[in-house]
Amino acid sequence: MGLDLSTKIGKIKLKNPVLVASGTFGHAKEFENFFDLKKLGGIVTKTITLKPRLGNPPQRIVETPSGMLNAIGLQNPGVEKFIQEKLPYLKKIGIPVIVSVMAYNVEEFVEVVKILDRESGIDGFEMNLSCPNVSYGAKAQASSVKMFAHDERMIEEVVGAVRKATSKTLVAKLGPDVSDISKMALAAERAGADVVALINTFMAMAIDIKTRKPVLANKTGGLSGPCIRPIAIRMVWEAYKKVKIPILGIGGIMTGNDAVEFLVAGASAVQVGTANFMNPSASIDILQGIQNFMNKEKIQDLNKIIGSVKN
Ligand SMILES: Cc1cc2nc3c(=O)[nH]c(=O)nc-3n(C[C@H](O)[C@H](O)[C@H](O)COP(=O)(O)O)c2cc1C
Repeated sequence: MGLDLSTKIGKIKLKNPVLVASGTFGHAKEFENFFDLKKLGGIVTKTITLKPRLGNPPQRIVETPSGMLNAIGLQNPGVEKFIQEKLPYLKKIGIPVIVSVMAYNVEEFVEVVKILDRESGIDGFEMNLSCPNVSYGAKAQASSVKMFAHDERMIEEVVGAVRKATSKTLVAKLGPDVSDISKMALAAERAGADVVALINTFMAMAIDIKTRKPVLANKTGGLSGPCIRPIAIRMVWEAYKKVKIPILGIGGIMTGNDAVEFLVAGASAVQVGTANFMNPSASIDILQGIQNFMNKEKIQDLNKIIGSVKN
């Protein structure tokens, strides 16, 4: 049976719904020996900032039950080096490229996007409004973590400003550490986002009981992997009932069936993160799993699955 796996997020037409998540797939080249990257629905790059960042000192990763904690701290070469050294390779792959961007205030967010908007080969931007491993925002102090994604007004302000700087597809990536994710998604929609991506990692912590010190040098980090999946599913389901724009589902997707669960909950496409560290070909295996499900269930068109949850 010829399956139609195509789906749309904003202006971007995807030939299939499987993208790789920011920060878990390098800048793609590292994965070229494992599978044909052209088979992916799309790529979301590691988050890029205006200036280069070394990230946090080690230890930056902790394994947890059914997941991992990371506090990489947005290590990246900065926007200029990204354009010179990473973008040419990404362009050549021939699939949609979404550049993840982050900044410490609204003006800087606009500046990064304006610089990137001049380049060809970029299909959209994913605004990382929810990285738990850096302190930023107007009133951020070294010891506090204030994310744009924590506050409806801040989401509206920053998404609205960036919206004016680009006509490319704009994705607002939200964080889960809020009491009502649909309110945050609605704020992004009001401000002109074309897509919301749900979810980033949960703020979390591990303590070494002998030294009594936090295991991560950054003290706290972001929790990802299968342990967060049921919460991510709940958040996609909640947001789907409220927003009209498409949703990118993210959180602990390890198999094709996990991805289908997100699609049923209301996601138009999914991103694979932590699974890439366990199996570099995970995204392609997950795509195959979706096709197997559709064949088995005799569903020809992926769009029949999206948002098909029965309430
Ligand atoms: C090591 C690591 C680095 C990450 N770096 C970023 C990043 O730079 N920008 C971003 O938006 N999300 C980043 N994330 C979050 C993922 O993109 C994803 O939202 C999250 O891990 C949940 O999906 P998963 O459970 O499939 O990993 C990172 C996650 C991990 C595990």
